[in-house]
Amino acid sequence: MRTRAAATIAVVLVALASASAADDAGTDLGRRIYHEGRAAGGEPVRALLGSASTPLSGSAVACGNCHGADGRGRPEGGVLPPDITWDELTKPYGHQHPSGRRHGPFDERSFARAVTEGVDPNGGRIDAAMPRYALSVSEVAALTIYLKALARERDPGVSEATIRLGTVLPDAGPAGEIGRAIRAMLRAYVGDLNERGGVHGRRLELVVAGDLEQAAKRFGEKPVFALVSPYAVGSEARLLQFAAERRLGLIGPFTLAATPDASLQTFFLLPGEADLARVLLEFAARNAGLRSQRWAALVPDPDGSTAQALRNECRRRECGGLEVLPASAALDPGAVARLMHLGIEGVLFAGSEREFAALTAAADRMGWHPSIYTPVAGLARAMTAAPPAFAGRLFGAYPMRADAPQTSAAARSFETLRRDRGLGDQHAAAQRFAYAAMAIVEEGLRQAGRDVSRERFARAVESLHRFDAGPLPPISYGPGRRVGALGGYVVAIEPQGGFKPVSDWIAIEQR
Ligand code: HEC
Repeated sequence: MRTRAAATIAVVLVALASASAADDAGTDLGRRIYHEGRAAGGEPVRALLGSASTPLSGSAVACGNCHGADGRGRPEGGVLPPDITWDELTKPYGHQHPSGRRHGPFDERSFARAVTEGVDPNGGRIDAAMPRYALSVSEVAALTIYLKALARERDPGVSEATIRLGTVLPDAGPAGEIGRAIRAMLRAYVGDLNERGGVHGRRLELVVAGDLEQAAKRFGEKPVFALVSPYAVGSEARLLQFAAERRLGLIGPFTLAATPDASLQTFFLLPGEADLARVLLEFAARNAGLRSQRWAALVPDPDGSTAQALRNECRRRECGGLEVLPASAALDPGAVARLMHLGIEGVLFAGSEREFAALTAAADRMGWHPSIYTPVAGLARAMTAAPPAFAGRLFGAYPMRADAPQTSAAARSFETLRRDRGLGDQHAAAQRFAYAAMAIVEEGLRQAGRDVSRERFARAVESLHRFDAGPLPPISYGPGRRVGALGGYVVAIEPQGGFKPVSDWIAIEQR
């Protein structure tokens, strides 16, 4: 069996090696038409749409936009762009489409007619959703060569025997220790997975860069398939851009608050402030009678995503009223007095430590002690320093809790791995992140199959539902959902005192 596979591979290699230089040029032009809708000179090809023959720029309707970067079509939608890899188009028994249209196998001539005239091998009309392209004979030929190669073409970072993953972790400075903890966990996971036989016969390899400059260089020399659990202190936006420019999937960036406009290839593990603020409202609704209460939100940007999420949530839940103010209003005792006179009972606070201290000091002087809820993890210390009369009224929401029970099968594997590899239990949050991100990568790769592409991988990760990634709550993604564990724990913070868990995991709905 093994020798037969080896022989097949040898034949394929020989066949590839003997492909002529003309074919290479054809593949390049074909690739450009397919992915960019541009001709040899870089100018867009011309396309016509529908029975009215509306002219379109080919760059707006590149084949890959509809048929997928891997040519395998789309599994969902209205009229489905089918799999158009060459092997598929030329299957001897042809195709029956969901619309009922039926035709025999394509050959090079009928393919040319499909692309330029919109008819199938049996002369049937291809649905008007598929544009017609003004391509020359040699351009169609180049496209054909490319479609033949496409099924064999692998995305960067994937070879016959390995899949290479990249990560960016600081090695020095204050963040270096966390970076090293993440790296140790990723290495342990990858080592263990390879000992278990890898994924679909491929070993995983990890390429670590210390920062984005190094990553650009290192991943240039050794292309990676996806990024796993990177930690980019202070350069989060650049990390997202780095990944988007290279079409790199980004799984479980550490501490990176979920950004709504992140590329669709980015999968966060835990929610950011806007969603944690919603967790707090859910908690208040369960415990404090949200409908009868008047609320104020003090946020850095009254038009930002946290404010917007709160407005929507309050409207949906019919809370007793919501005043949204910039957090700097906390520094103005007049503004604080106004909130008191409005009868505000609950304050959602997402400002700075200084603003928090000013708010609680001014309110305390006025004898006003509303409940204050914060989605900002960095405020915990300031909260413990609040005036004593706020006892029992200060709450924070956190996406992770060290003492939360970890009972799932994968959570036990996490503990075992940590113990067996002598990783210690320092930087537990970093370890959990790294483990969960790898568990998601492993599952995504398994589901994507041996024939993995970045697109298939992203689709597989997107389809995870209540997946047990180990030491985190269950992970679910979806077409519009990029936060895996959507929810949080609420903890009461005592002035001069400690922290007391006051809720189990509170799951919230996708916004
Ligand atoms: C705007 C989306 C879109 C773009 C762009 C697009 N297609 Fe299509 N294509 C479709 C849809 C939808 C169908 C299926 C129509 C149907 O079922 O009748 C289709 C069908 C086809 C078919 C017929 C397959 C069959 O089995 O009948 C071929 C071949 C094809 N496309 C090739 C291409 C090529 C090559 C390009 C780029 C030059 C391209 N398409 C660009 C949407 C698109």
